[in-house]
Amino acid sequence: MIMQKWTRSGDFLRFCCKSLTYLRSKENNSVYSSVSGFVHGYESKSKLFEPNDGNHNIELQHRCSGRNLGMQQQYRCFGSSSASKIQRNPLFSSLDAKDISYFKEILGEKNVIEDEERLETANTDWMHKYKGSSKLMLLPKNTEEVSQILQYCDSRRLAVVPQGGNTGLVGGSVPVFDEVIVNVGLMNKVLAFDEVSGVLVCEAGCILENLATFLKPKGFIMPLDLGAKGSCHIGGNVSTNAGGLRLIRYGSLHGTVLGLEAVTANGNVLDMLGTLRKDNTGYDLKHLFIGSEGSLGIVTKVSILTQPKLSSVNLAFLACKDYLCCQKLLVEAKRNLGEILSAFEFLDNNSMDLVLNNLVGVRNPVSSSENFYILIETTGSDETYGREKLEAFLLKAFEKGLVSDGVIAQDINQASSFWHIREGITEALQKAGAFYKYDLSLPVEEIYNIVNDLRGRLGDLANVMGYGHLGDGNLHLNISVKDYNDELLGLIEPYIYEWTSKHRGSISAEHGLGVMKANEIFYSKSPETVALMVSIKKLLDPKGILNPYKVLPRSLISDDH
Ligand code: FAD
Ligand code: MLT
Ligand code: ZN
Repeated sequence: MIMQKWTRSGDFLRFCCKSLTYLRSKENNSVYSSVSGFVHGYESKSKLFEPNDGNHNIELQHRCSGRNLGMQQQYRCFGSSSASKIQRNPLFSSLDAKDISYFKEILGEKNVIEDEERLETANTDWMHKYKGSSKLMLLPKNTEEVSQILQYCDSRRLAVVPQGGNTGLVGGSVPVFDEVIVNVGLMNKVLAFDEVSGVLVCEAGCILENLATFLKPKGFIMPLDLGAKGSCHIGGNVSTNAGGLRLIRYGSLHGTVLGLEAVTANGNVLDMLGTLRKDNTGYDLKHLFIGSEGSLGIVTKVSILTQPKLSSVNLAFLACKDYLCCQKLLVEAKRNLGEILSAFEFLDNNSMDLVLNNLVGVRNPVSSSENFYILIETTGSDETYGREKLEAFLLKAFEKGLVSDGVIAQDINQASSFWHIREGITEALQKAGAFYKYDLSLPVEEIYNIVNDLRGRLGDLANVMGYGHLGDGNLHLNISVKDYNDELLGLIEPYIYEWTSKHRGSISAEHGLGVMKANEIFYSKSPETVALMVSIKKLLDPKGILNPYKVLPRSLISDDH
């Protein structure tokens, strides 16, 4: 195969072999060697979840059949068969007028929300799939108020659901029944930033994108980035241990969160807001709150290690003919781009089609349709080195037949348009109709086998698609359907969980368990481990008021809780 280097095709700098150039490049074949750098967080996202947008109410009726049967309300959710039938814990109290007066006294009238429209939004999750019936949302302004709220709720045994940006994908952020919603969105101040260490200390209600914007002129970036950045809170990120697009480079929040402050169910404030990278004095209890999805406490402040913003960022959008090529490409990328690799994401052709059909103004950057697409981002401090290294890597991958087509973004707009395809899949799924969503960790060589197996199992009944953070072994397996259907769900679950467990994977790589998978935890954790989790839950929240029905199996919690 005769190789050319970089040719301009359409708007893009295209990486191609001669035959492809003839087929696709209508413009000149001159060699370009310059790929402009662009920065992290360049794409300004609008809020993902706006109250009363479009057909919100219509969709709710269509998708949710939460039937309000008073105290014996039966919660029905379409995301998971085992979450379908939950009984309200009768030990919980119901709100009365005295409770409302107390909250108004401590928070002020305007931060005690009883307005139906605002409650409708707060009761409904981002996917419009899970819906509670809370009559009250509280908006504390500081840790002291959070502490007072929880102390009171604990004494009255009022159940509470902590809420951040409400972008969670497992039904963890909305009430199941009438839990009081505590949203820390007003606690959104940056408290300190150390330009030497890069440590940022902020309140939990800061929106992730706002933190990125705050850091940008200081020459720093957040160590995590995800499609929901315009709405999700750092407190929500910490509580879900969110992964996102750059975990491959900067690691998980268990590494980058240096400290936090949390309020436990009885109102105790735990000050663990350290800013040190190294601190081995006893048990590192902050980790209990990272990823516990609001079941152990409300996170009120976070201290996080940010990263210097490096000048050379390059993004390639590539096409691969089969999954084996994607896998080999990952191995090569880790070996040859190791020190500058900052993202390795993939999507299959079904995901690409879904985005093209459901999002406006999107086009496939590579002109022919392929079975798989890969985004490789590199980040480094030397522009020439970074660019040339990526180009040389891609040429080699092309020679080896691992990549069949590809383009490198030349500016921020092109980079944003590439990312928009990958980040837009979730929104495209929502627009396409109903969908079942799974978030699996698997050995990389197994990742696409489950997609193929499920396709074989479901046949024409559904559109099965796979995408995700391939560099982290994280598959997002989604099944798009016209309408939710229990029979179909019966073919999907427990099949997916059993398959994952058999391959020693995790049924929640990054989204958490929420209400959707609370009862499925045993597919990924041993009984002894779950028993210890239950003991910890009972120690920190003996009355079980924090995010009930979520995270842990209800049968193990509900007896005395
Ligand atoms: P919420 O959704 O409000 O809450 C999530 C959970 O955390 C709930 O259990 C809630 O009770 C608890 N919680 C929230 N705030 C607090 C607090 N202060 N204290 C204690 N508990 C709290 N996730 C990823 O991991 N990677 C991705 O790449 C990713 N991409 C996404 C893209 C889109 C388009 C969308 C819609 C979602 C995506 N998510 C992703 C899921 C979601 O954005 C993350 O889980 C995020 O971290 C949730 O933050 P939030 O503030 O919206 O939390
Ligand atoms: C993603 O990686 O796009 C998010 O985790 C959301 C999703 O799974 O759709
Ligand atoms: Zn993800």
